[in-house]
Amino acid sequence: MKIILLGPPGAGKGTQARLLTEKFQAPQISTGDMLREAVKQGTKSGLQAQEFMKAGQLVPDFVVIGIIEERLASSDAKRGFILDGFPRTVEQAKALEGMFSRSGEKVDAVLNFRVPDEDLVGRLAGRRLCSKCGAGYHLDFSAPKKEGVCDRCGSQLIQRDDDREETIQKRLDVYKKQTAPLIDYYNREGVLKNINGVGDFKEIFKQVLAALGQ
Ligand code: AP5
Repeated sequence: MKIILLGPPGAGKGTQARLLTEKFQAPQISTGDMLREAVKQGTKSGLQAQEFMKAGQLVPDFVVIGIIEERLASSDAKRGFILDGFPRTVEQAKALEGMFSRSGEKVDAVLNFRVPDEDLVGRLAGRRLCSKCGAGYHLDFSAPKKEGVCDRCGSQLIQRDDDREETIQKRLDVYKKQTAPLIDYYNREGVLKNINGVGDFKEIFKQVLAALGQ
């Protein structure tokens, strides 16, 4: 399966991508995760990306397209993949189309997760992550047993730089302006499936499987 996950920040793309990965044994390819790792490692792409990410803006297309082109050429992506957070602009979608047309591939479905803004802000502002193992928590819905400490490995929990309230609003604005046009773009291609992203994540996954004809 070659699947694209579309939706605003906090819509649950990462959460559903992990479930899809288990189901289809296809890698989750998250540009957000790859960029955060590049920033951590201090690579050239990381240095190009970090100020944009911190400000809640999109990283320039040429940086992200380069990263994706390289990642899709890896052997584990040959049979299928879950693209989480890419494409995010029409320019990126066209670049992806170019990569597919060269390799004779096509996307099976674009899943568009719909969640109201007020839910998104609450999901993101309350998110905490383990600084070591990456386990995710939420201050209201899935709080750690001991405040600020990971249940799994005992390391410190942190808040993503871009999960602060002022940056969340910026990310939502950027989504509406630069990414939402992809909904029409993929609708015209006939591959768009709308998913109600509110509710229990397992119930949402059932909708996802139904949309994929599973
Ligand atoms: P990225 O890491 O992709 O962030 P995002 O799209 O803003 O996505 P999130 O991880 O915040 O949300 P999500 O939809 O994956 O939801 P999740 O499942 O995690 O990108 C970060 C930055 O990198 C961008 O701002 C940009 O700068 C740069 N970037 C990345 N890709 C780029 C690209 N292609 N081009 C240019 N720049 C790019 O869930 C969020 C929270 O909600 C969690 O706490 C989760 O537990 C909770 N949750 C999930 N599902 C539910 C549910 N059903 N009910 C209640 N809570 C839920």
